[in-house]
Amino acid sequence: MVPRLFVSGYSGFFMEEVMDWLEKSLKYQELLEKVNNDKELQELKIQILGKKGELAALMSEMKDLVSEKRKDFGFHVNSLKNELEDSFARKEVEIKALKIEKELAKNSLDITLPGRRLSSGTYHPLTLVLKEVEDLFISMGYQVVEGEEIESDEYNFERANIPANHPARDMQDTFYFDETYLLRTHTTAVQTRVLEGFADKLPIKVICPGKTYRRDDDDATHSHQFSQIEGLVVGENITLGDLKGTLEILAKRMFGPNREIRFRPSYFQFTEPSVEVDVSCFNCGGLGCALCKKTGWIELLGSGMVHPKVLQMAGIDSSKYSGFAFGVGIERLAMLKYEVEDIRNFFINDQRFLKQFIKFE
Ligand code: DAH
Repeated sequence: MVPRLFVSGYSGFFMEEVMDWLEKSLKYQELLEKVNNDKELQELKIQILGKKGELAALMSEMKDLVSEKRKDFGFHVNSLKNELEDSFARKEVEIKALKIEKELAKNSLDITLPGRRLSSGTYHPLTLVLKEVEDLFISMGYQVVEGEEIESDEYNFERANIPANHPARDMQDTFYFDETYLLRTHTTAVQTRVLEGFADKLPIKVICPGKTYRRDDDDATHSHQFSQIEGLVVGENITLGDLKGTLEILAKRMFGPNREIRFRPSYFQFTEPSVEVDVSCFNCGGLGCALCKKTGWIELLGSGMVHPKVLQMAGIDSSKYSGFAFGVGIERLAMLKYEVEDIRNFFINDQRFLKQFIKFE
């Protein structure tokens, strides 16, 4: 920094004395020039401009001067002081900028480094299956209805035409809270609720997804907690043909357009007739492989025409109305669709398993 002369207000000093002031100024500016950190700057400031600093000492000399010299002296000391204060302020800004620069250099980013991957979540495979089934049935005009996981014996069994002495009610199959309440063993419990609740709002077209519980020992194909989707349609002239057409659409949507289904006679308390539904093997196309145990068919779900007694218990005229129902395991669908061999994979939340499924949109 080039020191500026402060002789503009010169008013009577001899040249020598002006040179003295100039020298002082130069000396201070030189000292200031050498400073390169905040600590040194503050020390120098105290030394020169501080209360007991060099300028203050100069000021105090003023009182010993004769009055005509005092004015000029005061003028020069003040000019010097202003000049120095300006210089200190500039230096302070300079040092601050230097400090920021140093800091930036120290923490500089290497923009050529590859970025860190953000891990994003995935849908649980059971959620994927549920979403797909729900989307399909909603597109066909169905409503989605959910019930309670804690149900009464009446709606879980009685209203489904499962009498008191039926083996399904055995303590070994069902988690009971007391004589009245239990953890629902199937979503057919939601079916009986819907039938009663919608008896005066026919036709009914619903699917009822939800968790279900049974006292099974957990192994590769059993779990004490699993989930089902119940389907129910009640109205006038509903036939087994409607059921077959509907389930065919479901099978094709889940397992590919070339799938076929077949009905096998079966028995459920709450349907008459009852059928078990198989889908043609999507692995071998029906030729026979390990997945379909060489039969060409894979068991998919249970279904049938809603038993007239079940309709009557809900207050629906079974001579006028009929309906079909089906119940499908969500884990079963997911195991078939994603070729999962152990049902426990759905519940232990191993990231290596879960990461294989579709990412959140
Ligand atoms: N509730 C049966 C079960 O848990 C499944 C089922 C079979 C539901 C036939 C139905 C049906 O609605 O019609 O094994």
